[in-house]
Amino acid sequence: SKGTYEHYMLKEVDEQPNVMRKISQHYIGTDGKLNVESALLDELKKADRLYIVAAGTSYHAGLVGKNIFEKVADIPVDVELGSEFGYHMPKLSQHPFFIFLSQSGETADSRQVLVKVNEMNLPSLTMTNVPNSTLSREATFTMELLAGPEIAVASTKAYTAQIAVEAVLAKALGEAKGVEDAKDFDVKKQLALAANGIQTIVDEKEKIKALTADYLTDQTDAFYIGRGIDYALSLEAALKLKEISYIHAEGFAAGELKHGTIALIEKNTPVFAYINDGVGASHTRGNIQEVEARGAHVLVIASQKYSEAGDQIIIPEIDELISPIISVVPAQLIAYYASLARGNDVDKPRNLAKSVTVE
Ligand code: BG6
Repeated sequence: SKGTYEHYMLKEVDEQPNVMRKISQHYIGTDGKLNVESALLDELKKADRLYIVAAGTSYHAGLVGKNIFEKVADIPVDVELGSEFGYHMPKLSQHPFFIFLSQSGETADSRQVLVKVNEMNLPSLTMTNVPNSTLSREATFTMELLAGPEIAVASTKAYTAQIAVEAVLAKALGEAKGVEDAKDFDVKKQLALAANGIQTIVDEKEKIKALTADYLTDQTDAFYIGRGIDYALSLEAALKLKEISYIHAEGFAAGELKHGTIALIEKNTPVFAYINDGVGASHTRGNIQEVEARGAHVLVIASQKYSEAGDQIIIPEIDELISPIISVVPAQLIAYYASLARGNDVDKPRNLAKSVTVE
């Protein structure tokens, strides 16, 4: 039930620190040993490439996962939309391993890829919130997201749970392979930082509500920009805003703006700029100046480490690889308050369904 909440979405946003703790408790022992099936790790060790297949928000969690797996587990990753990949499958690597990300475990676009993967006798894993779902039953392995039922159509806690479970698996695989970067990635500590960091942001709700009014009242378009891990995040941030507020939004690689989209920047165009990616930080600052010079109304969401005076939202300490777990939360709240201000049906946005079982 919604309890004292007016909407499931806000309740589910607030549950995220708890979801992080549940994932940590389930997948990581007190001694730090990871609870991941050894048969799964044996299969993964044979793989030369991971293919992550998903749709919507789960696809965006896959884009974040690519960064984590490539660094921590030292394996190349392709992230694919089920609706495209199923019908235009590229030449696969010699030893592919498929990971299906799906909150519901029922998305038809992803499932038709799994059917083909099974016909080819290739190994697969489904990460899902619904353990007895179709994708879970039909894949070789399953990892549960443990986010608890997600009722609001706009996915929130399933996204952060997917990133957390990807981080656990990347750590387990990296350790099994003896990858150097896996040693430096303390997943238990990172999930604890994630829980605390999300809590800090959800405690700033009133401030984020006021910023939303300041930046989005009467606006029809908005841009989210970032580099590296923040680029992956910006796509999800923009999708949240579109889904429930119906404001047109785009997520952009900060460096790409000047190659076209900057033509859309006018006086007061809202631009939400993310700075958690260390390599990209100074260049994104430059992109902020470019859009400000053209009148954009810029809100900066920066990690503690790279923040500067005047930044509006500070992301508490966390490894930047999994920083979207925290930095998506301001975007979830911005979308929520923008939707509320417009009088939309937050939990049941127009034209959308929670799980889409047609291709
Ligand atoms: C959609 C939902 O159509 O399916 C989105 O409206 C969701 O919220 C997407 O991200 C993918 O769903 P799932 O269950 O496969 O993660």
